[in-house]
Amino acid sequence: MKNLIFFGPPGAGKGTQAVSLSKKLGIPHIAMGDILREMVKQNNLLAERVKPYIQKGELVPDQLVIEIIKRRLDRLDCKEGFILDGFPRTIKQAEALDEYSGKERPIQKVINFVTPEDLIISRLTGRRVCRNCGANYHIKNMPPREEGICDRCRGDLYAREDDHEETIIKRLQVYNEETRPLIEYYNDKGILINFPGDLPLEEAQEKLFGLLK
Ligand code: AP5
Repeated sequence: MKNLIFFGPPGAGKGTQAVSLSKKLGIPHIAMGDILREMVKQNNLLAERVKPYIQKGELVPDQLVIEIIKRRLDRLDCKEGFILDGFPRTIKQAEALDEYSGKERPIQKVINFVTPEDLIISRLTGRRVCRNCGANYHIKNMPPREEGICDRCRGDLYAREDDHEETIIKRLQVYNEETRPLIEYYNDKGILINFPGDLPLEEAQEKLFGLLK
């Protein structure tokens, strides 16, 4: 059983690493941001409720994301483990996760991607995402073979609505105020591992796999 959290500020590389690690380890990658963005695509009241938080770079209310994560972790594919990416983001969310996972399937490791802020801004302003399959690119670090087109499915690539400099700065502020305190929370439990978020992609991948296999 491998119950993991990939933790860190926006643009630290959590999602990029989680995609490849989840395949190698055979456990699902659960990205709260992706789940919420899918919700926003539905034309309903919940979508209307969630949308402004994401647009402004603020956190969606705890109660809602806690409910979402519980339902997701209940699914059978999480039995052998999971990688949580973007959850928890507040002490309240972390406490709810502890209460829910209990002693039977506790979180075993929290990988904290330590990444400097100037690097974060260049990573996020250069990020492109496939509108069709969700694959992640970077215009310089991980460019697609053909500009603006996904290598995997030939879908259109777009810049996320919250990847503009102003919203990135807001997201970093929210991270520092509401999410950073979790470093101490997990360090006190003895399960936090600081991992350099500024390594080249493949080196980071190999190092992480060595750490988690
Ligand atoms: P979310 O989607 O989770 O965004 P985030 O945490 O801001 O994370 P990112 O996806 O921006 O960063 P990442 O670390 O995954 O970076 P990535 O690997 O893509 O959340 C969005 C919003 O949803 C929040 O603002 C909030 O409103 C809401 N939300 C989500 N969870 C919530 C919660 N629990 N509670 C309340 N609200 C919640 O990498 C970024 C770029 O860098 C890519 O282009 C990539 O190619 C490149 N890159 C990555 N690693 C490297 C590397 N090693 N070298 C070179 N380039 C790299």
